[in-house]
Amino acid sequence: MKVRCLTLFFAIISLFGYAQATAEVQGPGKAAIASAHELATEAGLRILDQGGNAFDAAVAVSAALAVVEPASSGIGGGGFWLLHRAADDLSIMVDGRETAPAAATADMYLDEDGRVDRDLATNGPLAAGIPGAPAAWAHIAEQYGRLSLADSLAPAIELAEQGFEVDLKYQQLLNWRAHVMLRWPETAAIFMDGENVPDIGHRVIQTDLAATLRALAEQGLDGFYRGSVAERLVAGVRDQGGIWTLEDLAGYRGVEREPVRTEYRGYQLITASPPSSGGIAIAQILNIIEPFDLASLSRIERVHLLSEAMRRAYRDRALYLGDPDFVEIPYEMLLSPHYAAGLRAAIRLDRATPSGMLAADPGLLVRPESDNTTHFSLIDAEGNMVSGTLTINLPYGAAFAPPGTGVLLNNEMDDFAAAPGEPNAYGLIGFAANAIEPGKRMLSSMTPTIVMSPDRVAVIGTPGGARIITMVLLGVLDFIDGNGPESWVSMPRLHHQYQPDEISLERAAADDELKAGLEALGHEVSVRARPWGNMHGVMWDRTTGTVEAAHDPRWESGSAVVADGEAGRGGEG
Ligand code: GLY
Repeated sequence: MKVRCLTLFFAIISLFGYAQATAEVQGPGKAAIASAHELATEAGLRILDQGGNAFDAAVAVSAALAVVEPASSGIGGGGFWLLHRAADDLSIMVDGRETAPAAATADMYLDEDGRVDRDLATNGPLAAGIPGAPAAWAHIAEQYGRLSLADSLAPAIELAEQGFEVDLKYQQLLNWRAHVMLRWPETAAIFMDGENVPDIGHRVIQTDLAATLRALAEQGLDGFYRGSVAERLVAGVRDQGGIWTLEDLAGYRGVEREPVRTEYRGYQLITASPPSSGGIAIAQILNIIEPFDLASLSRIERVHLLSEAMRRAYRDRALYLGDPDFVEIPYEMLLSPHYAAGLRAAIRLDRATPSGMLAADPGLLVRPESDNTTHFSLIDAEGNMVSGTLTINLPYGAAFAPPGTGVLLNNEMDDFAAAPGEPNAYGLIGFAANAIEPGKRMLSSMTPTIVMSPDRVAVIGTPGGARIITMVLLGVLDFIDGNGPESWVSMPRLHHQYQPDEISLERAAADDELKAGLEALGHEVSVRARPWGNMHGVMWDRTTGTVEAAHDPRWESGSAVVADGEAGRGGEG
């Protein structure tokens, strides 16, 4: 396995490879989009109908999700967009992760006793990093799209102006955050119905957001990061105790990064690189399990083996990973088959390894996180693909939108390790590698992924916090086993993340025999009532010419469509 870490600020990107590409590439001849909301999928299809490519559609889907799924992502947040361009086989990750403001300090969330003030770290403007989504959209449109940024933002602007109807997911996630949002009446006025969580069918109209999107569409980056929108953002943030400055916004830079690449059983995985922890963790797990024939193992042995590999990868996540522009990440070691062999050698097939016996800070604690964030997968008729995972962190982010902007801010600062040994909202604790520093990107679990072989291609990803990585892993293994996206998105899920030292299982994955078998090996097993994730996947089978798309059945609002030809639309995927 070979990993190169390439960091290029958007401004200096070189596209010489594309200019030189001349090969005729055969695409699937049809497109597919799977996203968390049918209006976002529609927005992407409309852009394809207008002659846009997958990258234009990705901007349209992302911006539409920012409007109609405000709990999960938005213009005030960030994300990772993994692009694959068929013409020259280019794969690149567009990193629109938020950054810490310049005035951020390592102890900014600590109280007098040195404990993290959870309220400051998650609620309101002090919890917000400098947004990266607008920079990523502008970059993707400019460097990879066929249409203008304004064209691709048009569906989102219409959705913001005309409104959309509240659905169950909107309602359930707002129930969780409404008490915080009510602190800021101007924010609540946008997303709530008076002081109440709106009924299903209530129309959410976002006039200020439409104006902000329009400024971005008309002026590009300056429409968001400079000028009147930036001034309103900074004034609103500072008025409520935040520390953003105009310089923070003007200085935000998106980054192109070389994805993590690894191979498993003849398939090439192209996946998220730091500041995501996902690609390295998945590569490590696959390296550990590679010599095993999973199909020949019993169900109990298979879950045990996967859990032991996950345990070790999550230990390393906590120890070594952070923003690669700030910390030296030991890529060679983490991705080396020899290192994986060493980890594998310490796995007993007849016994769980207590996490406490794996060297790490004993204070390390990782707790599962919730299902916010969002993911879409898409492919166009030429075979260009985008796997995008986007977030504002907790549902409805910081629950605060600076007045006059409609920009619901992220609370991504909580993805930093605010203090050694103290869990964030998801129980994730890191060390120096993920400590808060001005301008630094907080570590993420988002893992947009593309898997390819000469015969079959998968575009896959999911929200789900710390469990994103293992959900994507299970989906990838299922794809490599020969199954299609309906299977990846609906399969029952299992997870181990080092600490707490337990295997967690979705209820559908748990039965008495499995539980008893794992317990007999020494595992703690926790069965979770709530389903996890919201996976959206697309598959292209080059041998049959078929394209399939699927949305996670756990949430009704998802949508997956296969569209025939350049413009036409097929049935539900
Ligand atoms: N905010 C969740 C993540 O980036 O992993």
